[in-house]
Amino acid sequence: MQPSTLTILGYMLTSISFMFGIQLLRSPKTARTGNRVAAVGMLLVLGITAALINGTSNWPLIVPVIAVGTVIGALSARTVRMTAMPQMVALFNGMGGGSAALIAAADFRSAVGSGTASPDITWAIMLSCLIGSVSFAGSLIAFAKLQELMPGRPLTYPLQKAVNAVLLAAIVAIGVYLTVTTQPLSTNLVHDYAPLHFAVSPLFPIFLGLCVALGVLFVVPIGGADMPVIISLLNSFTGLAAAMTGFVLSNDVLIVSGALVGASGTILTQLMSKAMNRSLFNVLFGAFGSKVEATGGAAAEGGTVHPTTVEDVAALLAYASLVIFVPGYGMAVARAQHDVKELADELERRGVSVEYAIHPVAGRMPGHMNVLLAEANVPYPQLKEMDAVNPDFPRADVAMVIGANDVVNPAARNQANSPIYGMPILNVDEAKTVVVLKRSMATGFAGVDNPLFYKPNALMLFGDARSSISELLAEVKRQ
Ligand code: TAP
Repeated sequence: MQPSTLTILGYMLTSISFMFGIQLLRSPKTARTGNRVAAVGMLLVLGITAALINGTSNWPLIVPVIAVGTVIGALSARTVRMTAMPQMVALFNGMGGGSAALIAAADFRSAVGSGTASPDITWAIMLSCLIGSVSFAGSLIAFAKLQELMPGRPLTYPLQKAVNAVLLAAIVAIGVYLTVTTQPLSTNLVHDYAPLHFAVSPLFPIFLGLCVALGVLFVVPIGGADMPVIISLLNSFTGLAAAMTGFVLSNDVLIVSGALVGASGTILTQLMSKAMNRSLFNVLFGAFGSKVEATGGAAAEGGTVHPTTVEDVAALLAYASLVIFVPGYGMAVARAQHDVKELADELERRGVSVEYAIHPVAGRMPGHMNVLLAEANVPYPQLKEMDAVNPDFPRADVAMVIGANDVVNPAARNQANSPIYGMPILNVDEAKTVVVLKRSMATGFAGVDNPLFYKPNALMLFGDARSSISELLAEVKRQ
């Protein structure tokens, strides 16, 4: 059915709102507006879709499903803890991929059943099913790893790559076979179509099952510090699957929105790989971090840790010229961002310059630290990206590491046997004094020891980051 002019206009408005929304998401100042603009576009396209399927008798099925989905979505968005956000993103992303694959699968059934399947649509159906299923299954595994329902480290087994290659080859072979054998038949051959239909259809569920298995096996060997890369890659897969489904349904807005998600996910994947100083190929096939070796040379050699007290750190802070705060995942766990801002305000009142060093993969999701600090109203110009802030560390009196570990681990710089070797880090050890706020000597996400903690200029302030910061604030005020 040809869409009406009004529908085309609505689709255009929706596509523009998505693009404009993404544009606004580029800055924390405008990000909320961007989210709202895109949500309005989404509402518009839902309205158009509802109007288009007006004549359906399926409303009793559609309405409850939408209602349940809306309640689950709204409740989880309101109740999810900031630290659990990456898992939620992985889960929702998987649902998107799964939906794209299911719609394409339903279309395959109806196209074959009605004898209208043609290769130009069937290839898009096959691709949508493949990419959508991989994204669905892969995202569920990523969710399970981040939620600690299964081990977060890479799980490897003998002939892993060979098994994946054979699986992919089988999927491609079946996909090509299904595409070729479901060509449209000339009218006088339609009666021959039925046997062909029965011959090919049992292969389709097998094809889908193999795609889901590939998604599982593709993500299982990835873990440790590589999770951010795989999550953004799966995000781009979901976009591509949606765009393919858009081709199948001849739905322009689905093609545009899928392409936007696919392109932005691909750019993010590249940025994440660059932040880890690793090629995407290496992330996907290197099983990074599967061998968690004792990389803490200093610890192994009996290096000394220097525990400190709130009083000593408060004195260091109160009389410093430049203090650089280095937030990490522990700040998110402790929900210490507001207290950090209060401490920074107090230091600034005393004439201390304050900066915040933001590592691209600090925390558990892209932009995690920016989101938390923006929520605490930290002025945006004070947030400095890794390349901009690293030259400032040598002139900093204090680098305050607040629940960060992997992103400040010097083993990444100089220990070739370390699983995080080559990842660019924040050079906090170049500051005159480094104060590390954490609860114990436990490792970070990558599971590797940190030689920073044994350096002569490093002081460890043990305890929950939020309590430590509020005690520091009280003590600085007393000085
Ligand atoms: P991590 O290396 O994970 O270290 C966090 C540290 O915070 C831990 O060592 C922990 O030590 C401490 N901590 C936890 N709760 C705390 C609390 N209440 N108070 C004080 N400290 C607390 O964090 P990071 O340096 O931000 O590095 C991020 C890691 O996650 C990287 O390896 C990155 O690749 C990975 N990752 C990132 C993303 C994205 S996109 N950002 C996604 C998935 C994975 P204690 O237990 O001793 O307190």
